[in-house]
Amino acid sequence: MTSSHSLLIRRANIILANGELSIGDVLIDEGQILDVASSIDNVTAAREIDAQGLNLLPGVIDPQVHFREPGLEHKEDLFTASCACVKGGVTSFLEMPNTRPPTISQVEMDDKLERAAQKCLVNYGFFIGATLDNVADLLAVEPACGIKIFMGSMGGKLLVDEEAVLDGIFARGKRLIAVHAEDQMRIKQRREQFAGIHDPAIHSQIQDNQTALLATKLALKLSKKYQRRLHILHMSTADEADLLRESKPDWVTAEVTPQHLLLNVSAYEKIGTLAQMNPPLRTTHDNEVLWQALRDGVIDFIATDHAPHLLEEKAKEYPNTPSGMPGVETSLPLMLTAAVEGKCTVSQVANWMSTAVAKAYGIPNKGAIAPGYDADLVLVDLKKYRPVLREELLSKSGWSPFEGWNLTGWPVVTIVGGQIAYEKGRPNTEVRGQALRFVDTPLPS
Ligand code: DOR
Repeated sequence: MTSSHSLLIRRANIILANGELSIGDVLIDEGQILDVASSIDNVTAAREIDAQGLNLLPGVIDPQVHFREPGLEHKEDLFTASCACVKGGVTSFLEMPNTRPPTISQVEMDDKLERAAQKCLVNYGFFIGATLDNVADLLAVEPACGIKIFMGSMGGKLLVDEEAVLDGIFARGKRLIAVHAEDQMRIKQRREQFAGIHDPAIHSQIQDNQTALLATKLALKLSKKYQRRLHILHMSTADEADLLRESKPDWVTAEVTPQHLLLNVSAYEKIGTLAQMNPPLRTTHDNEVLWQALRDGVIDFIATDHAPHLLEEKAKEYPNTPSGMPGVETSLPLMLTAAVEGKCTVSQVANWMSTAVAKAYGIPNKGAIAPGYDADLVLVDLKKYRPVLREELLSKSGWSPFEGWNLTGWPVVTIVGGQIAYEKGRPNTEVRGQALRFVDTPLPS
């Protein structure tokens, strides 16, 4: 017997849990996948979707986003951001603590969870942010997907750039530590050295490859010292990829953003400060080395670092412009277009954008299309190309660094917990996601 919420997806090209592709049906009820088979007969579901010609992937889990609520809702909020998520096939996200106030204790964590329960169309998890003196909170606050440390590129309480303090954080507890690895001292020196230059391209020189490498080396050193679970956020340079290729302990993971794979310093000429982010865009050589590292498993998965700012903020003169670019609406089509072009396979994309993320963060029941898993799914069309158009974007920021790019693999239907959260080009604003759970991140043996 199926319920009035049941859903049967028929004749989809399914990316199975083992990475293989198979044409078949998926039965969903009570928020979970009940059955996956070449043909599911003798079942009547409340709703059927004929998915012939479409690919069914596990919903994207975006493990690094900045959704700005509370405190910076003029740029984005949890409702607008999660509408953008479902449009992009993102069914879960892990959000960063640099909101106002920052998420640095249980009080702010509870506030975010409450807001998300009311407003979010997708599933949500939040990082607890490290400060110079909140080690006890870092370990006690629940639920948290991990501890976020800004080693650089951040002002105020969330900047932790002293080795002794970092050592103290790495030394205590087991919770995953995710680092924004840029060396603050070097940034400061180079900002002074290049002061007065207003061409935004200087951003990539100020916060150069060495800036990222120095901090990544320090984080790796501390992680090895304590065998502490470490995740390197938005790795951007060939130098860091080479370092990890030489020696990457089992308990270390790394991510890369679509923009660090697909954009480089040439973007400043075309889109100016819209290309400004931290860590900055690099060279075509870095793009290629990062792609290879991703394909080889040196880099484990993809995150967008969705960091929306308004166009009027971006229109100021560098360096008075904020760093960051939105990403949740375009990440899946960008990666699937790369797959169709032969840079990788569709099942690698499913792994990098869902399966591997669920594993790394210990998110139970997510990241695969198999009986018993949560029904967080996305149906995409790999045959239709459409350009990224500013007027169609749902993020409050209202722009994308990829405007005009002709992409395929756009979501046709996005399903969150068995509910249709996006179809016919529109989010279903009635749908609400759930708080993600995190089990003690198992270290690969
Ligand atoms: O460019 C960035 N902007 N990088 C970050 O890590 C933070 C982000 C933001 O919050 O704007």
